[in-house]
Amino acid sequence: MTSLRKLREKYLAGEKLVVLTGYDALMSSLLAEAGVDVILVGDSLSNVIAGYPNTLPVNMEQMLWHVQMTVRGAKGTPVIADMPFLSYEVSTEQALVNAGRFIKEAGADAVKLEGGRSAYPVIQALTAAHIPVCGHVGLQPQSVLTTGGYSVQGRTEEEAARIKADALAVQEAGAFAVVLEMVPAKLAEEITASLKIPTIGIGAGPHCSGQVLVTQDLLGMTEAKLKIAKRYAELRREALEALTNYVSDVKEGRTPSEENSF
Ligand code: KIV
Repeated sequence: MTSLRKLREKYLAGEKLVVLTGYDALMSSLLAEAGVDVILVGDSLSNVIAGYPNTLPVNMEQMLWHVQMTVRGAKGTPVIADMPFLSYEVSTEQALVNAGRFIKEAGADAVKLEGGRSAYPVIQALTAAHIPVCGHVGLQPQSVLTTGGYSVQGRTEEEAARIKADALAVQEAGAFAVVLEMVPAKLAEEITASLKIPTIGIGAGPHCSGQVLVTQDLLGMTEAKLKIAKRYAELRREALEALTNYVSDVKEGRTPSEENSF
């Protein structure tokens, strides 16, 4: 049974789905051992790993490199590759070629792309080519230049209706799941109840079929404390403490000791 079929069975059985981001083999091996259902190589690696201010600069070659690393560590856990900005908007043909590269060259199980009704033709073309697609509606970080920020979407009736129509379009186009980002919990609950594919929420409350977060946020590795991400560890603080101790130990001759020497 393919890993995505297993995912569908879990969804149909009412099991909550756990999706976390991974960008390399070290992290994906930890995620696999922890039992996450899906690893997402998000274009968020642009901010989280590469230090850019948003997700726009990361390109296909960089994403491919990270998807390859992630698949190597994933131990069979399904991996979704995020399609970077302008890798699927220019033409359906280009979207097919780029999505195909994630499958053929990097070993991804599926791709994710942003957009609701506007993404319908691309999602339809990819699924017709047997490439599983996860949609992404609500807040779409790749649209930041036109939307102007990262605020909660769907607070007005009009906006909520637009997001519902987007989620439905993604399903109708053939996607196997849809990410709902930064929408009110009530709206996410309504969308989840109305769809026949799983919703994966981020900042979308507890009623989605599953949850996705940036792993570095929940591990406390990133500086900003986000309302949407409970921190399960404070690894940045611990790492900083360890590194500072190492610096002073070397400066003052406490390491390497005899134990660390030949
Ligand atoms: O790029 C990303 O990490 C994402 C998720 C957080 C949904 O798109």
